[in-house]
Amino acid sequence: MAKKTSRQYVCKACGAVHAKWAGQCDACQEWNTLEEMAVEPLAASSASPRAGKGRRVQLHGLGGKVELPPRTGTGIAELDRVLGGGLVPASVVLVGGDPGIGKSTLLLQAASRLAGKGERVLYISGEEAVDQIRLRAIRLEVVESSLDLAASINVADIVATLEAEPDVKVVVIDSIQTMWLETVDSAPGTVSQVRACAFELIRAAKRRGFSLILVGHVTKEGALAGPRVLEHMVDAVMYFEGDRGHQFRILRAAKNRYGATDEIGVFAMTDRGLEEVSNPSALFLAERRGNIAGSAVFAGLEGSRPVLLEVQALLSPKGGDGAPRRAVVGWDSGRLAMLLAVLETRCGLKLSGMDVYLNVAGGLRVVEPAADLAVAAALVSAASGVPTSPGAVYFGEVGLSGEVRQVSQADARLKEAAKLGFTQAVLPRRIARGSARSRPPEGMSLLELGHISDLVGPDVEAE
Ligand code: TYD
Ligand code: MG
Repeated sequence: MAKKTSRQYVCKACGAVHAKWAGQCDACQEWNTLEEMAVEPLAASSASPRAGKGRRVQLHGLGGKVELPPRTGTGIAELDRVLGGGLVPASVVLVGGDPGIGKSTLLLQAASRLAGKGERVLYISGEEAVDQIRLRAIRLEVVESSLDLAASINVADIVATLEAEPDVKVVVIDSIQTMWLETVDSAPGTVSQVRACAFELIRAAKRRGFSLILVGHVTKEGALAGPRVLEHMVDAVMYFEGDRGHQFRILRAAKNRYGATDEIGVFAMTDRGLEEVSNPSALFLAERRGNIAGSAVFAGLEGSRPVLLEVQALLSPKGGDGAPRRAVVGWDSGRLAMLLAVLETRCGLKLSGMDVYLNVAGGLRVVEPAADLAVAAALVSAASGVPTSPGAVYFGEVGLSGEVRQVSQADARLKEAAKLGFTQAVLPRRIARGSARSRPPEGMSLLELGHISDLVGPDVEAE
């Protein structure tokens, strides 16, 4: 009989480990996500030296000389930005995202750019045959590069190949869910296989010093044993997001041991692969139509980067007897509820009989509280039927008493707005004269608000 104690149950959705099987995961409340996992294979396959015979580790002072890791730029600036400046040797990056979002496309482009720069790069696909990858390369017009391809799902073979190729700098594994280790007794894509395969590949990367990029599919239902169970094993986790109906794709770092996690890279999917979008504001605002009530432009920040976005609000009389609808895309619904309450209570706006729809155009998700003022402006404009001034951008946090609060990096936001031809900024009132904010950019007038009720008054439209 199998030893009971050597089994664990791991949730495919959140990675929580349970001693007993259950229909529902205690940690994330998902149903049918627990999967049996053997404990030994990982330890056995690691072939580590016998426990109990350790050597003394070297100790270092905190004040010693710091050596920054060398970086290899991928040649794709938007990707390098999210990586924190390029790939670090012996580091492991996990790129997660929905199937079909463009992970293979992005990595094939990056891999061929790197190979074009003279680096030795291996692109190993467990999903596509070599010919399919070649066809994609023709479509992406990257055929001339000296990239090495392989189609394999066998991790033992892959590791053996890597051992025989000492000068490899970067290895792409597409995808980790297709990889398979003979020593693990379960199908590819299961938690045990994904973990054991990742472990072997990561060990090879650390030993040989190449950068490893793992692709991982993740679905909303967490149907595949995906990136979640790997997050703690890798140095950086990036998610490739976007709506497949939209052209934009956003690469976002969720974890990065070698860089900031709030940077984003913006791409557009074209018929010749992913194109970098170095000026996302222009792209996000490209389809904006002036003179329509319910729209306001938010001057936001994504990481260190200012991004202008259009916030759209639509109000319609509530249908039926139930509670009014509040539908939000790209923003927090709790935050919308708060803002609606503030507008009702502090500004006398009547919204409780209305269904409210809010949309951040372009498919980006905004998490900054600084978006409050732009959302409020869109709502006020929708309620009054008066468009916001087409040349105005908005930013500022709104408190529960309706006060408009300071937000960080006003200067960067103003500069971006001026660059795109905006002429007015509606923003929080300066607390002290001559404080942090410098003079506004040329041609930009500032409308400083102390209270959100100033939005409802005539002064905004008067400009
Ligand atoms: P892919 O990179 O295969 O996605 P993933 O690896 O994340 O599953 O991208 C697949 C989608 O991208 C597919 O629907 C077709 C589209 N695509 C383009 O629009 N243009 C292109 O040049 C390429 C290569 C793909
Ligand atoms: Mg793919």
